[in-house]
Amino acid sequence: MLKKAMLIVSLLVLVVSFQNCSDSSESLSFDLSSEVAQKANYQWIFENVFQKKCMDCHSGGTTFAGLDLMSYNSLAAFIVSGEPDQSALYLRSFSTKFFVLTDLERSVIRAWIEDGGKKN
Ligand code: HEC
Repeated sequence: MLKKAMLIVSLLVLVVSFQNCSDSSESLSFDLSSEVAQKANYQWIFENVFQKKCMDCHSGGTTFAGLDLMSYNSLAAFIVSGEPDQSALYLRSFSTKFFVLTDLERSVIRAWIEDGGKKN
């Protein structure tokens, strides 16, 4: 009898802890997508990605592929508004041996282009 009661209690504990698990992962993915949405603008990308990781090769005297990241107009030629998968900027925004982009930064660039890729 006592064994049966113990079994029921353990099952209850298991069910409750699984529920907690799925709760916390839901709120985690929600936090991430709202963080991406909040950062998906030109200003944030310019300051946090371009200025920190790209200018050595894409500004001043060195503008590989003709891309000068100090100029939005120059960048615009590498964006297809609303279409990240057709945009050289997104297609190039994976880590290479020259720079590292985080998943968050890639998601922000993608969301910004989906939203039009405007100078906002
Ligand atoms: C160490 C130098 C270097 C750094 C740093 C660098 N790039 Fe480049 N990038 C190049 C070179 C060289 C090319 C042209 C040759 C090529 O396409 O590989 C290029 C080309 C590009 C192109 C055009 C690709 C195309 O298909 O037309 C884009 C867009 C680009 N880079 C984006 C970036 C972004 C965004 C960063 C920063 C996150 C960055 N690059 C950092 C060297 C660099």
